Amino acid sequence: MAPSRRWCRSPPVRKRPLGKTTLQVSELALGTWGLSGDGYGPVADVEIDRVIDRALAVGIDLFDTADVYGRGEMERCLGRRLQGAGTTFVVTKIGTVRDGDPPTKRFDPDHLRTAFERSQERLAREVVDVVLLHNPTVAAMQSKEALAFLKDLKQAGKIRAYGVSAGSADVARSALRDEVDVIEIAYNAFFPGDLHDVAGDVSESGAGVLARSVLAHGLLAGQWSPEREFYLDDHRYQRWTRDELKTRIRQLDALRPLVTGAVTSLRSAALRFVLANRVVSSAVLGPRSVAQLDQLVREAGMPPYLQDTALTELSARLKQAGIEV
Ligand SMILES: NC(=O)c1ccc[n+]([C@@H]2O[C@H](COP(=O)([O-])OP(=O)(O)OC[C@H]3O[C@@H](n4cnc5c(N)ncnc54)[C@H](OP(=O)(O)O)[C@@H]3O)[C@@H](O)[C@H]2O)c1
Repeated sequence: MAPSRRWCRSPPVRKRPLGKTTLQVSELALGTWGLSGDGYGPVADVEIDRVIDRALAVGIDLFDTADVYGRGEMERCLGRRLQGAGTTFVVTKIGTVRDGDPPTKRFDPDHLRTAFERSQERLAREVVDVVLLHNPTVAAMQSKEALAFLKDLKQAGKIRAYGVSAGSADVARSALRDEVDVIEIAYNAFFPGDLHDVAGDVSESGAGVLARSVLAHGLLAGQWSPEREFYLDDHRYQRWTRDELKTRIRQLDALRPLVTGAVTSLRSAALRFVLANRVVSSAVLGPRSVAQLDQLVREAGMPPYLQDTALTELSARLKQAGIEV
């Protein structure tokens, strides 16, 4: 498909090393949880395909998924769309079982082996680039068998790199001390603390960092009214009470002074905040349409993302607004 005129004005997506792995990946990655319908409600199949195709067209070569997204459908979709698309990298996550409600976690080698083989088949890749444990607890990390299993897969040449998608700084720190290749972690202007807490460990270990939830689930785009409501099948329905959402929207004022010059919107400021951190290998985007993807790629802009002085001043404003930095 010919690129649109709007896309022609976007700067090309740049690459960064994925930490100590030998992979050079696009600094913007396409996340597929939002596309799966699991987190935010349904997306039409045709739009899912179009988003993946557009990501490829704009130079995104890193794709983030999990075996449970869409009950395997996102892996299948990537398997189909990425075939013949040149060099691309897929990060998948295993360790969640969705047989019941709520889903449970299993990080024993028997489960991980079966889960990996199914992912490999759905992704249609003999070698999967990066496999992560999907949100293990600190307790699960203490048993070393899950990481040992992934290390064996790497030694057998079935994966290129492995690591942990961490739901807390403690889990991330534990993974980094176990010398994983990659961590994935929530990181955005309103939730910078976990990555900042482990930044020293990241530098010491040389692990790659995939930053997720860069818009704080859409909040940082700054487009919501305080009365915004969410459907029942949208995880945000339960995330904030009405009062919490109003507070969060008020706190966006701390970001507004960043919107000047090349930083044309709050969305741009939020993306640039993440990309300005050199510890980050790639910002995992969560667009649910081609229009959203185009906005994100265009507004991420190019270096220098934010000046150090702007970041220092932002930190002070965030603290003043009651946000832990
Ligand atoms: N545990 C884990 O490993 C884990 C957890 C979470 C996410 N992830 C990965 O990270 C990816 C991104 O996570 P996330 O969904 O939390 O990301 P996010 O970027 O913080 O939020 C995504 C939401 O932001 C809104 N949005 C996206 N593009 C926009 C735009 N251009 N303008 C305005 N709003 C926009 C959309 O919601 P609306 O338009 O509906 O408002 C979208 O559903 C996921 O797809 C997944 O691959 C991994």
